[in-house]
Amino acid sequence: MNNILPRPLELGEIHLWLISLDVAADGIPALLGLLSVEERRRAERIRILKPRNHFIVARGLLRKILSSYLPISPEELDFDYGPHGKPELRNADSSGIHFNLSHSSNLALLAINRKYPIGVDIETARYGRSFMKLAERFFSCREIDDLHDLDEESVLAGFYACWTRKEAYLKAIGTGLATPLNAFDVTLKPEATPALVGQRLDPAETERWSIIEIKVPAGYRAAAATQWIAPRIVFRQWQSDDQTP
Ligand SMILES: CC(C)(COP(=O)(O)OP(=O)(O)OC[C@H]1O[C@@H](n2cnc3c(N)ncnc32)[C@H](O)[C@@H]1OP(=O)(O)O)[C@@H](O)C(=O)NCCC(=O)NCCS
Repeated sequence: MNNILPRPLELGEIHLWLISLDVAADGIPALLGLLSVEERRRAERIRILKPRNHFIVARGLLRKILSSYLPISPEELDFDYGPHGKPELRNADSSGIHFNLSHSSNLALLAINRKYPIGVDIETARYGRSFMKLAERFFSCREIDDLHDLDEESVLAGFYACWTRKEAYLKAIGTGLATPLNAFDVTLKPEATPALVGQRLDPAETERWSIIEIKVPAGYRAAAATQWIAPRIVFRQWQSDDQTP
């Protein structure tokens, strides 16, 4: 059973769930009880308590939330994993539901839609990092040039806009770092619409994907990549009172 009010997931909508991963210790066993044997083994391998609990909460609530869209209980959901580890609902083609999850610090962001694979990334914006050095390591030439054009106050925002947009796209296609980070370009300047603007491995990709900037609490940045053009974004908040079943 789950206790989330049902709300239909229409074609062209993306439901975004922001989840606090800091659940009181007495809420953990119930969420652990929803996990598969493999997921419990994975949790056991995480030696440090906080990240272990965060994994259990993210997986447990992922199961509860997905189950609210389906006639299946949270513990009965099955996942398939892509060649680079992307989880999808087993039989996603018949349910039509695709999701992607991202976590950073004590927050997780879950994106759910119908029909198309989706990618999402949330990052904690950390001040004082050497942004240009990181950009030169991870970004494409076009992105590095765009970052160089920004004044000092805009560099942090530009850097995280780029990072989250790149990662959301990589997570949507499911390849992770198997796709070279300098093989594709996203926008990052404040005046530019979020977008995938170059893909040298498959130029038609720029027509296929939209990048959406997601409003998240101060100190975080987030983006999603979707094949819906101008999707309707529906924010849904997991209430902490509901975190124990
Ligand atoms: C999984 C990956 C795609 C993202 O990892 P990450 O940034 O540590 O983590 P996030 O919190 O955003 O996402 C993790 C979740 O994505 C999902 N996931 C796992 N593999 C995935 C894949 N290949 N594609 C899409 N989603 C994936 C899982 O739900 C995972 O949650 P879990 O760890 O609780 O099972 C990682 O393999 C990767 O390639 N990271 C790139 C990191 C990087 O250098 N980025 C630079 C961007 S400029």
